[in-house]
Amino acid sequence: MTPSIIAIDGPAASGKSTLGAAIAKQLGYLYFDTGVMYRVVTCVALARAIPIEDEGAVTALAEQVKIDVLPPTANDGRQNTILADGEDVTWAIRARAVDAHVSPVSAYAGVRRALSAQQRRIGLGGHVVMVGRDIGTVVLPEADVKIYLDASAEERARRRYLERLARGEPADLHTVLREMRHRDRIDSSRAVAPLKRADDAVYLDSTGLTIEQVIARAMEIVRAAEKSNGE
Ligand code: DC
Repeated sequence: MTPSIIAIDGPAASGKSTLGAAIAKQLGYLYFDTGVMYRVVTCVALARAIPIEDEGAVTALAEQVKIDVLPPTANDGRQNTILADGEDVTWAIRARAVDAHVSPVSAYAGVRRALSAQQRRIGLGGHVVMVGRDIGTVVLPEADVKIYLDASAEERARRRYLERLARGEPADLHTVLREMRHRDRIDSSRAVAPLKRADDAVYLDSTGLTIEQVIARAMEIVRAAEKSNGE
């Protein structure tokens, strides 16, 4: 049987979103990028001038804000349309200010509790490719396939830098690398659900590989799981 729940975890800009979306398309599954939820909470907190260091207020926001992930409603390169309380925040959640504040927000236990519960409910519906940092370890430990996608910090910074330039935003490669290392450190060392490879996850290093090569390798992993399931 084709594996029903596929979890992809890994650090920032390792290519998880591109890979997750491609696998979901090939299998006809729902693609769900959980980073979006942490980004929405951060983006709305900044917009409402809620201090990021106010754990109680940020947690209350995570419990209340209504996050919708819809098929793309505009032809501007978006994979999905993201709504926060009905407002389109698809591009706002990619702003540098959100990048700079999302790691502390995602380290709050109450924020994680609120968002993980929603993710788990969606994931258990099956036929899903869920992408994040703690999907295989915490959100859906029963996932049928777990991939830990990695790439060197330099390669990931270069990808993020090129993405920014493509969107017409100013960018400096060294700053991007420094910010990425900082975010990696917080994501991997936080007390609750830190970024780490699940014991039963397949490690996939995308450094030096093309997107097509990474997708092909991941589909081999999915097909191998299918065989070991007895089909
Ligand atoms: O994948 P991303 O860059 O959009 O994720 C944004 C932030 O959210 C990142 O700093 C880590 C956090 N995150 C998390 O803690 N757990 C997840 N399942 C997904 C993202």
